[in-house]
Amino acid sequence: MDDKGAVVVFGGSGLVGSSFLRAAEGRDVHAPAREDADISAAAAVSRVLDEKRPVAVINCAVFQPVDLCESVPEAAFRVNAIGAGVLAGACARRGIALTHLSTDFVFGGDRTRPYVEADCPRPLSVYAASKLAGEHLVLAASPRHRVVRTSAVFGPGLPGHGVGSFIDRMLERARAGQETRVVVDQVVSPTYSVHLATALWDLLARPEGGVFHAAGSGQCSRYDLARRVFEGAGRPELLSRITTAEFGAVARRPSYSALDNTRLRSLGFADLPSWEQGAETYLAEIL
Ligand SMILES: NC(=O)c1ccc[n+]([C@@H]2O[C@H](COP(=O)([O-])OP(=O)(O)OC[C@H]3O[C@@H](n4cnc5c(N)ncnc54)[C@H](OP(=O)(O)O)[C@@H]3O)[C@@H](O)[C@H]2O)c1
Repeated sequence: MDDKGAVVVFGGSGLVGSSFLRAAEGRDVHAPAREDADISAAAAVSRVLDEKRPVAVINCAVFQPVDLCESVPEAAFRVNAIGAGVLAGACARRGIALTHLSTDFVFGGDRTRPYVEADCPRPLSVYAASKLAGEHLVLAASPRHRVVRTSAVFGPGLPGHGVGSFIDRMLERARAGQETRVVVDQVVSPTYSVHLATALWDLLARPEGGVFHAAGSGQCSRYDLARRVFEGAGRPELLSRITTAEFGAVARRPSYSALDNTRLRSLGFADLPSWEQGAETYLAEIL
């Protein structure tokens, strides 16, 4: 990618998108608001690309939360699948490489070692199926396009946008003195958005397309991650364990979706820092 060219970010007000923007370091970056550039609206997407003439596009736009997708599958597929496809097609026709964010939830949880890029997905929810469909449409549009899967992202969001990351929500509950039960049987690779943003910028400088995993090193249960927060806030007694079955969320989630960043490593990238390092750094900032 030409280092001096413009980069367009869709979903720049979200958790991942805003971290990517904060890490831009003087680059020429544009992040159209959803109102101006709905990724499923071909004309709006084309207008932005023709106006900004980017050398790279990154798609952090997504329809979630995961549970909501179960009741409005059309909306989930409109953004996560069709929108991704519209954007991928528009980029391909202009010779622009698209980097599209995706999720560890495309996997079915039937492994006991971290998933590598070549493992077969098995989506368990509408959200996961819509994201997997989006991946296929992106990769079908151009061999230069990239899908970057990440996992359990935490970090600073944009004030006034979204519900805050898992760590923020846990801290809010600890500070409010709320008893909290967190699932012990969902294992993920928690990823600090600042670490992810650095990896995404490094990846933009490379020409390779296809699927990449970019998640914090290591793995833990959501309960383990929450425990760091409640201990840090000095309220560990408020936190207790629960199983996924007892919790009874609307959407199914994989019991195991840790990711291994095999392809990044094969390109000579250092592993992302561990989830413990990420959590420690972020907690030090917000506690
Ligand atoms: N957060 C996680 O733990 C996590 C884990 C694994 C993978 N990921 C992946 O990371 C990516 C980013 O997720 P995130 O957590 O940063 O999402 P987020 O915080 O919910 O932000 C979503 C962004 O998408 C925008 N958006 C929604 N619908 C749109 C549309 N139709 N057209 C254009 N923009 C639209 C939102 O705009 P508004 O602000 O206007 O609503 C917002 O900027 C996604 O691909 C997701 O699958 C996230």
